[in-house]
Amino acid sequence: MSEAPFTLDGELKAAAQAAMAKYPPGRQASAVLPVLDLVQRHEGWLSRPAMDAVAELLEMPPIRVYEVATFYTMLRLKPEGKHSVRVCTSLSCWLRGSEEILAACRAALGVESFGTSADGLFTLEQVECSGACVNAPVVEIDDDYYEDLTPETIRGVLEALKRGERPQAGPQGGRQASAPEGGPTTLTGDPAELHAKAMAAAAERARARAAKAAEEAKTAKAAEEAKTAKAAEEAKTAGDAKAAPGEKG
Ligand code: FES
Repeated sequence: MSEAPFTLDGELKAAAQAAMAKYPPGRQASAVLPVLDLVQRHEGWLSRPAMDAVAELLEMPPIRVYEVATFYTMLRLKPEGKHSVRVCTSLSCWLRGSEEILAACRAALGVESFGTSADGLFTLEQVECSGACVNAPVVEIDDDYYEDLTPETIRGVLEALKRGERPQAGPQGGRQASAPEGGPTTLTGDPAELHAKAMAAAAERARARAAKAAEEAKTAKAAEEAKTAKAAEEAKTAGDAKAAPGEKG
């Protein structure tokens, strides 16, 4: 790890302070991830002096910054290639062919996992679930996700990057976002019509709720009236019984 001096100043410091300002006073340490991300985008990676400068700015012990930096795989602790290629090899992607995707990446870049290509353009990594299982297999490249990959499509993406292009991110198999293959199977009608239907159904539910509440109120009122009448009848019967002995005497 390089020990080259690092100073957090200028626009980078201003951007870090803007990130810190999003948190309450005294909680500036909560900005550690966004500030580390800013420094990494500026420097390409996080050297020990850079992490120390972040700790000083955020007024937190350096060890706590190291803990964060060593936990997240997207934070780099050594200089790497221009493009970070992270192949998900967790369960969903594995079931959908991540081993072939990884092999295609290795062959296209001429590196093994966690290696950097000879031209310095790519660093290849294997990562745990990228959180996009529904579009498995997935490869993260820099800030983008490339999904529904095949060995051919990931090769095409990498070749485009080598030419300096930025291929369209997202599903590479032509499907719409995370919709079922072949197209959406629900909410497929005219949006205005679907909206009108939903509104009519909601109004009908509201009417049914109001009718039920009115019926329950009517039943409760009848029960209350019956109870009152019964109490009056019992009071009358008790009064008659009291008066009866005097009449006899
Ligand atoms: S297992 Fe690959 S995105 Fe979840």
